Amino acid sequence: MAEPAIEVYEDEQRTFPPDPAFVAQANSGDRSLFDEAAADREAFWARQARELITWDTDFHTTLEWNLPDAKWFLGGELNVAANCLDRHVAAGKGDKVAYHWEGEPGDQITITYAELLDEVCKFANVLKDLGLEKGDRVAIYMPMILELPIAMLACARLGVAHSVIFGGFSADAIVDRCEDAEAKLIITADAGYRRGAAARLKPTVDTALTTGAASVENVVVVNRCDTAPEMTEGRDHWWHELMADASTDCPAEPMDAEQLLYLLYTSGTTAKPKGIMHTTGGYLTQVAFSHKYVFDLKPETDIYWCAADIGWVTGHSYIVYGPLANGCTSVMYEGTPDTPDKDRLWDIAARYGVTQLYTAPTAIRMFMKWGTEYVERHDLSKLRVLGTVGEPINPEAWMWYHTHIGGESTPIVDTWWQTETGGHMITPLPGVTTTKPGSATHAIPGVVAELVDDEGNTVTEGGGYLTIAEPWPSMLRGIWGNPERFRETYWSRFPGRYFAGDGAKLDSDGYLWLLGRVDDVMNVSGHRISTTEVESALVDHPAVAEAAVVGGTDDVTGQAIIGYVILRGTHEASDELGNEIREHVGVKLGKIARPKTVIIVPDLPKTRSGKIMRRLLRDVADGRSLGDTTTLADPGVVAEIQSRAAEGDED
Ligand code: PRX
Repeated sequence: MAEPAIEVYEDEQRTFPPDPAFVAQANSGDRSLFDEAAADREAFWARQARELITWDTDFHTTLEWNLPDAKWFLGGELNVAANCLDRHVAAGKGDKVAYHWEGEPGDQITITYAELLDEVCKFANVLKDLGLEKGDRVAIYMPMILELPIAMLACARLGVAHSVIFGGFSADAIVDRCEDAEAKLIITADAGYRRGAAARLKPTVDTALTTGAASVENVVVVNRCDTAPEMTEGRDHWWHELMADASTDCPAEPMDAEQLLYLLYTSGTTAKPKGIMHTTGGYLTQVAFSHKYVFDLKPETDIYWCAADIGWVTGHSYIVYGPLANGCTSVMYEGTPDTPDKDRLWDIAARYGVTQLYTAPTAIRMFMKWGTEYVERHDLSKLRVLGTVGEPINPEAWMWYHTHIGGESTPIVDTWWQTETGGHMITPLPGVTTTKPGSATHAIPGVVAELVDDEGNTVTEGGGYLTIAEPWPSMLRGIWGNPERFRETYWSRFPGRYFAGDGAKLDSDGYLWLLGRVDDVMNVSGHRISTTEVESALVDHPAVAEAAVVGGTDDVTGQAIIGYVILRGTHEASDELGNEIREHVGVKLGKIARPKTVIIVPDLPKTRSGKIMRRLLRDVADGRSLGDTTTLADPGVVAEIQSRAAEGDED
């Protein structure tokens, strides 16, 4: 088995059974959902679909499975926006708060379901006026402001697929994604607030549109920060001007259950990101189901907060679609957790009386570093479920979350899933599962997760590759425009199974411990970054002849990007050049993909067949404390690489 990036916490023996008081009030306090799904998986999902979702036309067939192509809820028709908004308003819940939104500078907006519905209808009419039709694609490049879910839901209302591009991505990333999806429109903002300043977005869109993305006809711009961006006549339109005269009358059209809802691009093992396709009925069913049971959601009383960014799948499923489908009140926050001070999250959680908090292990490790004084300033006693997502959580961080945020009693749900899976796959159910710090425990009801060895035999104890053995409702329906890559990436390694790309271990109690990626994908602060993508960006710099990228270990971000580069002929190694190369990646891909360290080396260790020995490079990186900048290859590093390369080939 390829070496996974992290160790498993084998000696972790602590167990935390659900508190009887929690069990007594839980949406699921016993094994009945598991039993029901085990008895008849399709019937189980059909029941969830009918109970949690409102259908314009009932489906006649639950699943059609022609590996790897799944269709769920055939014949069914529904509208996602109507499920997230109209039906709640129709049920008399129009005055219920959908979002308590807070901007980084402290501005606040409370928007009810009825108000959100009006805004969505208005923007859907704007989209129609701009010529958008069912089946078209729209790119969204926005900060965490309310116009972002409004734009997504307006697309969903019309059957226009959105492709949200994380606000930290570069102009090149926008071009790639818009061109691949042939997006007709980009919805953006002038800027968003980050660490007290306006982080500009519109100029990046302008750069993108001068270099490519010819399919984009119009740009809609929200004025968030008054930065007075340049507006191109005929192409760029202010959101507030278009919305001023828009009608709130926009009936939701029923969509086929398999209508494309969105594309979300994610990094794979090649330089080109993949447009992951999610559709309507199955996706909404699984995100609504998991949101309800994994967070033990009580929509009448809970104040739920997923502190992710909508630019990633976590925000799609657990800030927008799951919570709104379930009619709950969410908190949404624009900015960073340390502005104006390091207690911002706890301040928000206490002020709104947050009952569920969902964040990433990286954030927890950062809070640990900052110290408990920031937590202790606030009353977090309303919290009753804590979630984590995006990367393995080390037991130390789990225990800190449990002790300092959860008051030693709040259940923790460590949720394993992916952009491709659409919704939770492996996680405790808080009223049912006895947890172990660092283990995501078991697959949810209706999902069949299995480990296999190199030959594809199932592993019942010990290490293996994580696979999903049966189709699930919110599974990706493909890679946009590339069915071959879809088949090859996920379905070819182990015939008949979805291969997730993660290594995992099953302990003797049947608990799953996720070990990290087994492919050339890094996980930095819970974000997936392809080594190949960063390598291509490095060699794109004129001074770089060859590059190799590895994920080194970092005690806050999980992994850190370490780039080794060989310079072209006449270039001299220097700190300045190293930094310039590092910044070049930031410009090409976006800041999140900028290497923490660039090491200039005279040579790269390779196997006889010419494959770069990444494990060796990772070991070298981990064995040294590398700063946040450039490190020239000192003779020691070079000697180490050379001598270890000489010791033998990897693999
Ligand atoms: O390696 C796994 C890791 O994140 C990858 C999926 O990344 P992405 O598609 O960006 O989605 C992240 C948010 C759902 C997985 O292949 N991962 C995600 N959650 C966990 C995790 N690793 C361990 N434990 C988790 N809870």
